[in-house]
Amino acid sequence: MTRKRVAVLISGRGTNLQALLDAQGPFCPYEIVVVVSNNAGVAGLDRAREAGVEAVAIEHRAFGKDREAFERALDAFLRDRNVELVALAGFMRVLTSYFVGAWAGKLINIHPSLLPSFPGLDTYARALASGAKLAGCSVHWVTEGVDTGPIIGQAAVPVMPGDTPDALAARTLEAEHLLYPACLSLVCGGAPLSQGPAPILVNAFL
Ligand code: GAR
Repeated sequence: MTRKRVAVLISGRGTNLQALLDAQGPFCPYEIVVVVSNNAGVAGLDRAREAGVEAVAIEHRAFGKDREAFERALDAFLRDRNVELVALAGFMRVLTSYFVGAWAGKLINIHPSLLPSFPGLDTYARALASGAKLAGCSVHWVTEGVDTGPIIGQAAVPVMPGDTPDALAARTLEAEHLLYPACLSLVCGGAPLSQGPAPILVNAFL
């Protein structure tokens, strides 16, 4: 089986990266060939190395305010590694139209809300304040605009009485770890991997 060569972009702890790594088995249609962080020394880079995957920091700070210069360096690095698809997993930089255009149709993201509700930051507190009874996460294509691209799949989790943002984040994260491998597998041409025992999991189909 030819596997799609995937790069995962992270900024921190990398638990979604870990889920994507752990799902790589004989029937997995993707291979994570490189992990790039815009912050050096983060736990996610160690996770990649422990899995035998190349792990590199390309620090946005080195490029000052020049977002596009950072993205040109990132783009050149990914092309050098013959990357076919880029998966953002807790990558906390907004990408400009330069990078989004260069990787159009090959760039996906996971976001901790049921889009189109709550794009951007502080999703858990905003979901709680809204009074919604369901929260969750979405995997979507990245287009210009923050968290607005076409949705690939979503997983829902219940909002419980007395929830705090941290409690809701932890519940949502468990669903993310099931949803992201299923969606990445799907866009790489395979069947969605088993969705596991998530409490409520919907619609991981293109
Ligand atoms: C995840 O909850 C992910 O959905 C979120 O950051 C966390 C990263 O955790 N991403 C965003 O908020 C993107 N706007 P991880 O590093 O443990 O995967």
